[in-house]
Amino acid sequence: MGKKKILVTGGTGYIGSHTAVELINEGFDVIIVDNLSNSSADSLDGVEKITGTRPEFEKFDLCDKAKVIDFFNKHGDIEAIIHFAASKAVGESVDKPLLYYQNNLNSLINLLEVMNAKPSISLVFSSSCTVYGQPEKLPVTEDAPIQKATSPYGNTKQIAEEIIQETIAANPSMKAIALRYFNPIGAHATALIGELPIGVPQNLVPFVTQTAIGLRNELKVFGNDYNTPDGSCIRDYIHVVDLAKAHVVAIKRLIESKNKRNFELFNLGTGRGVSVLELLNAFEKSTGVKVNYKIVERRPGDIEQVWADTKFANDELGWKAQSTLDETILSAWNWEKHYRNK
Ligand code: UD1
Repeated sequence: MGKKKILVTGGTGYIGSHTAVELINEGFDVIIVDNLSNSSADSLDGVEKITGTRPEFEKFDLCDKAKVIDFFNKHGDIEAIIHFAASKAVGESVDKPLLYYQNNLNSLINLLEVMNAKPSISLVFSSSCTVYGQPEKLPVTEDAPIQKATSPYGNTKQIAEEIIQETIAANPSMKAIALRYFNPIGAHATALIGELPIGVPQNLVPFVTQTAIGLRNELKVFGNDYNTPDGSCIRDYIHVVDLAKAHVVAIKRLIESKNKRNFELFNLGTGRGVSVLELLNAFEKSTGVKVNYKIVERRPGDIEQVWADTKFANDELGWKAQSTLDETILSAWNWEKHYRNK
């Protein structure tokens, strides 16, 4: 039997490139589509160096329906899609809501149209813990109520989950898994691929590593007056390679028809809540490098604290995040140093 072919949209990006590596390692054929709006095709070199295989790559925009149809006509052997391609900057989404709705929803709808016509193609979708807002109960389980999104970005994830669910309800031969990511950080152990934010990083860990390496003067810690043990916000930081591996498990579950429902949802986190100040301490301890930081005002729209209940994903998927916080942080630092040739 030949290799199963998986379409990885957004596969040159941060999570996509790490997932491409894990898929190739597990014997899948990977074909990547990306418009390179927020990533570089250089990550394909990294994937090739790590795995010995260069994934097929096509550059186009998945919002272009005609191109999507052409692509699937050309690649009739695709078994499943992992759909990462999306815009993900919370602040930008507030300034440009239509861009986010256009980009994140049209690409998904175009893929679902293809699946609707050919339901043997299954889907793994990148969702986010942002759908929970500030949960009443922690750790948060998959059946916690969805709360009104605090940004257009968050809203696209909520709407996307609904679109998938309703499309599958209308066509029960389709199947999909949505994975709700907590905070992915870190990089591949080889430091050949990693997170590469364009411009000023919006997320905590790339800002920390760029400050530590001297690219930024000072990290701003957004608030120390939250109702948490040290006053800073709490998140569930998961190693991107652990996250990538969960995608391979989800793909196998769908391809081997081991899914229990046609649309399933799983939290992807470690189950451990870590505050911003704890993360900074862990960074300084594990790398030996001091980070210049200042406590400033809260960032509008930030959730006080959220971390995952991982039981459902652990039991159902037989998957568990393995890396420690220190290992994860060190991998991010090694990537930053490698990338800057230091
Ligand atoms: C946010 C989104 C998440 C999205 C992710 C992708 C929400 C609630 N969360 O995650 O859905 O997938 O962005 O970009 O919308 N921090 C600092 N200084 C900094 C940067 C961050 O103190 O310079 C703090 C933040 O206040 C927060 C923590 O670090 O407490 C993590 O922030 P960040 O990495 O931006 O991720 P989220 O906001 O959790």
